[in-house]
Amino acid sequence: MKPFAMAALGNPTMALPTVELLALAQKHLYGNYRPAPFVLHSGRGAEVFDTDGKRYVDLCAGVAVCAVGHAHPKLTARIAEQAAKLLHVSNYFFNDENILLAQELTAASRMDRALFCNSGAEANEALFKLARRSAWLKRGDSEGVIVAFHNAFHGRTMGALSMGGTPKYREGFGSIGGVVHLAFGDLGGVRGLPADVPVIGVVVEPVQGEGGVFPAPEGFLRGLRAFCTDRGALLLVDEVQTGIGRTGAFLACHHEGIEADAVALAKGLGGGFPIGAMLTTEAHAQVLTPGTHGSTYGGNALASAASRTVLEIIAEENLLERAATLGNSLSEMLNDVARAFPEHCELERGSGLLRGLVLREGFVARDVLPKLQAKGILLTAAGDRVLRFSPPLVVTESLLAEGVDAIRQVLPTLTAAA
Ligand SMILES: Cc1ncc(COP(=O)(O)O)c(C=O)c1O
Repeated sequence: MKPFAMAALGNPTMALPTVELLALAQKHLYGNYRPAPFVLHSGRGAEVFDTDGKRYVDLCAGVAVCAVGHAHPKLTARIAEQAAKLLHVSNYFFNDENILLAQELTAASRMDRALFCNSGAEANEALFKLARRSAWLKRGDSEGVIVAFHNAFHGRTMGALSMGGTPKYREGFGSIGGVVHLAFGDLGGVRGLPADVPVIGVVVEPVQGEGGVFPAPEGFLRGLRAFCTDRGALLLVDEVQTGIGRTGAFLACHHEGIEADAVALAKGLGGGFPIGAMLTTEAHAQVLTPGTHGSTYGGNALASAASRTVLEIIAEENLLERAATLGNSLSEMLNDVARAFPEHCELERGSGLLRGLVLREGFVARDVLPKLQAKGILLTAAGDRVLRFSPPLVVTESLLAEGVDAIRQVLPTLTAAA
């Protein structure tokens, strides 16, 4: 048998020219994404650099992930230190970093228990399994209905996909069923569900991120809390995009002062190191008993150490306050843009450092991104017409202004589709 050998014979760390990297990507990476035609290589704070040395202002932070920015010295050192000590032992054994993370995270989120996984979709799967098994324990079947909302995004696994409220994402995949989709923000619609519909849970994002940066209207989460309490259903809050300080509170549902039954976290939780979590209150601590749910990597020592360090940095650098203050500045800047370019922009909206500039009908946000990239600005699109800002929480006002200025230059070059 031929022995295994590295494909890049010779020096595997040798830098390849960008064109060769792009050709390799074209040939070997699965085509389920549409990445920009350059290759990122390093970063610092809210700036990243490609393999040609070009600088970009990173105002997306890997879609709301790199909360403490790129190459934060404390996080980098802590990951290296932990990697030299212990990476992984599985959940057959405790690891100290994971126990300490659970303590910090439950305190910051005002929840009681943490179940760790590796991504947002997985955290949501845990929420759905919690609701189903909880109903099964209470009434002997797990066939009840979870209320979810139009336009919601909960991830790409089959359970999470089924809860998502954008039908095109389900095309060709179907749904696991047991979900009713209602209008986001319409409490009347939720309350109007007939009493004989066996609602076992309501899953909601405090700000719909992927769907187009729609903050829940004031009172909506409080109303859902009351509805769930009345109906004996679980309030499941998906804070994958909004959690860990992005909106200026540790959890966005804290703005409404509500207590969820369970919360899904991921993205900012590891600052770029993959980790997710489901947090629950004590009342739900006995639902997922040993053998009913788990994940090999969930809560591994390296991910836990990284996450604990992210929480430390957030506290030390006052990043919640910073997200709120800079979010206000960004909101003002984007409002000015919307006023200056009324034929291109409808409005801006969002919460803290999760904000969207909504383009008018006829403009496609995804098509604007390459023009911004050419000017050294990285943003993402949310929904069809929203330019989404989800920068590192350590971003500066001047970097935000640089991004907004690029938008001002690009908008006049756009023409709306008829
Ligand atoms: C609110 C929300 N939930 C879940 C997910 C899925 O997270 P992941 O891609 O880590 O599975 C996302 C990702 O964008 C999200 O924004």
